[in-house]
Amino acid sequence: MDIKEKKILIFGGKNGLLGQCLVVYFQKQGASVQAVSSLDVNYAEASDIAKYLAENKSDIVVNAVAYTAVDLAEKEEEKAYFLNVTVAENIAKACIVQGSFLIHYSTDFVFSGEKDTLYTEEDEAKACSVYGKTKLLGEQKVLSVFSLKEQTDTKQAAHLKTRADDEMQAEAKLTAALLTDVQLTDSQLIEPLSLVCNGAKNQKGYLLLRISWVFGLHKSNFLEKIMAFAKERDELKIVADQFGSPSFTEDIAKLTHILLEKDATGLYHMSNSGKTNWYEFAKYAIERAGISCSVKAIKTEEYPTPAKRPVNSALSINKLEKKIASSVRPWQEAVDEYVQRLLTRK
Ligand SMILES: NC(=O)c1ccc[n+]([C@@H]2O[C@H](COP(=O)([O-])OP(=O)(O)OC[C@H]3O[C@@H](n4cnc5c(N)ncnc54)[C@H](OP(=O)(O)O)[C@@H]3O)[C@@H](O)[C@H]2O)c1
Repeated sequence: MDIKEKKILIFGGKNGLLGQCLVVYFQKQGASVQAVSSLDVNYAEASDIAKYLAENKSDIVVNAVAYTAVDLAEKEEEKAYFLNVTVAENIAKACIVQGSFLIHYSTDFVFSGEKDTLYTEEDEAKACSVYGKTKLLGEQKVLSVFSLKEQTDTKQAAHLKTRADDEMQAEAKLTAALLTDVQLTDSQLIEPLSLVCNGAKNQKGYLLLRISWVFGLHKSNFLEKIMAFAKERDELKIVADQFGSPSFTEDIAKLTHILLEKDATGLYHMSNSGKTNWYEFAKYAIERAGISCSVKAIKTEEYPTPAKRPVNSALSINKLEKKIASSVRPWQEAVDEYVQRLLTRK
């Protein structure tokens, strides 16, 4: 898909760490970008999301909204469920109705962390925290909304020859259901969707992108906090027995764009290449920033947190690299650019 002059609507685009970066990036590529926050649309109402997307028709809708406070989520399960599951599902349903292509971001925390090697898209996801569990459920809702659409596409290709006014009636029925905040069950959804999908406009798909250990210039994040602490203290103690793959928001934006250009759909893992631990990650950034602070490696048990973290959630990006026919730069190069830009920005 060529994104030039395409309309892209980004939930989380006004205040999110990734969302804000996507806004700037896609604007530079010539897309018409609309950044959205919870002040523009009431996420609590499915009908508001559906109505907002109906009024702001877009070729591509990005869901970069999530309840991302991993530890707080253990206490605020309902809030996490709401943003990570309910809102994700309602955005996906509204995309089907409007015929928008959906880009939904998820996380490495959907994995339990028991595997020694890199996690692939085929590996079973089994989260160990409320944040991870709700993000996984959100993924499943998105997949089920789009798989219902595929089923109905197949069914209709074989059997359905629906009259135009029937289609309009069905579309009106589904939109009305969404607008009045009715939570449709799968069986309720499949019938109107079968008719809605018969219309030419609903031929779009989705990208479900699992990203991990995100850092970027548009909002405070682990690296920024660590560097601020390092400036104030002589010594920092950082956990060295949890492993993952850092992802620079600028690279996530670029890679998402390339996947769109390649007409990719479905699930992809996306991060910078290489695997590290929090200690190495922090130490590298502190050194690159020229901050003098001793960084000491500690074990997870020495820094207990309310939420359990996966021991290893490093992602395999083989599928992504194969699709884009190029390799993704290592996390160290991405941190070099991040630190440089952080130090030189006004
Ligand atoms: N940050 C990471 O390290 C990381 C790692 C792996 C995956 N991810 C995934 O990447 C995507 C983008 O993450 P991000 O770090 O860019 O997100 P973020 O900046 O933490 O949040 C994005 C938006 O979600 C809403 N939001 C977040 N926390 C909220 C809360 N506690 N209550 C109410 N609203 C809240 C806000 O939307 P409004 O501004 O509209 O109110 C916020 O601007 C998400 O799907 C996330 O799961 C992130």
